[in-house]
Amino acid sequence: MLRSAVIACVLLLAHSAASLHVPRDPDAVAPWEKKKKPSDEECHRRRVRKSTLKTIKEAPFAGLFRDLQNSTEFEASAVTRVRGKYYAVFDNSLSIGYFDSRFQFRDPENKLVGDWGEDSQFEGIAYAPETDTFLLLHEAVSDPDDEGVFKPYVQHVKIAKDLNSYEVLKKCKIDFELTHENKGFESIVYLLTSSGAYLLGLCEGNYCKGGSEGKEPGNGRIIISQYKEWSDENGGGCVWEPVKTVNVPSSAYFADYSDMAYNYETQKLAVLSQEDSALWVGDFVADKLEFASEEGPTFYLPRDDHCRIKYCNAEGISWIDHYRVVVASDRAKSTQPFWCDQLDQSIHLFSMPRLWDPYTSSARMAAVQAADLAADEEAAAAEL
Ligand SMILES: *[C@@H]1O[C@H](CO)[C@@H](O)[C@H](O)[C@H]1NC(C)=O
Repeated sequence: MLRSAVIACVLLLAHSAASLHVPRDPDAVAPWEKKKKPSDEECHRRRVRKSTLKTIKEAPFAGLFRDLQNSTEFEASAVTRVRGKYYAVFDNSLSIGYFDSRFQFRDPENKLVGDWGEDSQFEGIAYAPETDTFLLLHEAVSDPDDEGVFKPYVQHVKIAKDLNSYEVLKKCKIDFELTHENKGFESIVYLLTSSGAYLLGLCEGNYCKGGSEGKEPGNGRIIISQYKEWSDENGGGCVWEPVKTVNVPSSAYFADYSDMAYNYETQKLAVLSQEDSALWVGDFVADKLEFASEEGPTFYLPRDDHCRIKYCNAEGISWIDHYRVVVASDRAKSTQPFWCDQLDQSIHLFSMPRLWDPYTSSARMAAVQAADLAADEEAAAAEL
């Protein structure tokens, strides 16, 4: 009875979707959808329902700030949490978005720090507590010392006490050569360990590459660097020197990687994918600069009523606490489906799903997810 109702419902939805002639963007299809013809039934599956985040609250950036500095466009690329406050960067502005955890409409506490300015191409933001500075990441900049070579850059900035402006202290390159100008670092995390401070840089493409290789899922890369500075007759300089490359475990089977967030207490490193509209969580041992295991669960941002991706532009993520995350969305591209527009350029609060347990190993959660998948496949086979 229930089954026939579900089938009737699926047929009805399939019919109404078809009659709308909605073009399907192949890039807006999640990995579990790619295996076979996608349908709403996928989202009924036990594994997906137990692993899908829940929206708590969300707001377009255009609603957060009292003074919008004449813009309603916010191409958010990263967000970080410092002492209970949030700081976001935008591709299309030099301002840093500052807001508190109430995420209220036109909250007088919320602010755009610094003049709006021009396109910044900021892709990441991290905070260094020892110096009270923020690190702002440029995906790829032409290296003045090496013509035709592109490297990620980090601006070290200090935000004024009154939150009206910030001062750029220095610009340091990450001495890592990129193969493609538009496939550089998408995210940075500043990590304090027993052996000093490190900067983790997440590559957007698989193998840290662009082109078709960059699209081979399961080959994410994190480049770990250490800060060096020197003085000489030319005024000195600074650089982030790569010391180690860490492979994101292949269980993070994503077409691209847009941001990561680390929680020191739980040792959980969340890795976000824009194209897959999902996040993977692994146990990362800061003092060893390595993952404790290759296994980790994948969680999905909520899908629409047809099981399609609706958070199409998830570019930034930060932990709020052990059970909740904040995600920032970029502007939808014209090549993406129109339904991506309503949730773009926004900040979203999600609670982690039923399967999540911050006090359990990621390997254990991945095992539960694998068992759920097996049960789902058995159920699907029995229905045929
Ligand atoms: C916004 O635009 C108005 C009119 O051009 C201008 O007077 C004002 O200074 C602008 N504000 C900012 C913050 O750019």
